[in-house]
Amino acid sequence: MSSLDFPQVTVIDHPLVQHKLTIMRDKSTSTAGFRQLLREIAMLLCYEATRDLTLEMVEIETPLMPMRAPMLSGKKLVFAPILRAGEGLLDGMLDLVPAARVAHVGLYRDPKTLSAVEYYFKAPDDMGDRRVIVLDPMLATANSAIAAVDRLKEAGSTDMRFVCLLAAPEGIDNFHGHHPEVPIVTAAIDEALNDHGYIVPGLGDAGDRMFGTK
Ligand code: URA
Repeated sequence: MSSLDFPQVTVIDHPLVQHKLTIMRDKSTSTAGFRQLLREIAMLLCYEATRDLTLEMVEIETPLMPMRAPMLSGKKLVFAPILRAGEGLLDGMLDLVPAARVAHVGLYRDPKTLSAVEYYFKAPDDMGDRRVIVLDPMLATANSAIAAVDRLKEAGSTDMRFVCLLAAPEGIDNFHGHHPEVPIVTAAIDEALNDHGYIVPGLGDAGDRMFGTK
């Protein structure tokens, strides 16, 4: 499935992303390997999710001569990982944008209803002045993603992107049914969700795989 089937979704088909994702899907990949690859892939996803940041020309002096050169201007970034699996994407994002602020959104998925339940929320005061990049490796039912974006809007956010590793078609439809203006950046769109709300073929439980839990 490609992004052509889903407007507002960018699938990063870069060979490095696809190669790393395949290793992450493989069930024999170790916890340490999975975590490291997630960090690396997060940097590549961040590169795409920040492609349209605005630049301004500034005066600088190189060792040889003065010049006008581009620097980031305008909105600053907030990364908003959805706990706990979203944490796995945070370090790679911060590697590329170390000055970004971080908003934590603590949600867990009720195993029976699959709906999102909030247990923690902490965000910078000036959310309305910032571009917010919401992080969760798996866009499955999208219930958590929808609840996180609802909560971030309540906190003042108006400019958001959602970054994930894998998305299910059902999750994309559900997410954009609630938040059509929030673009999604993902490494792949998988086949479907199974009866337990897992993405198939997927990579299993992303939180368990990165933290070595079951
Ligand atoms: N969360 C995960 O970690 N994996 C899935 O497949 C779906 C939701």
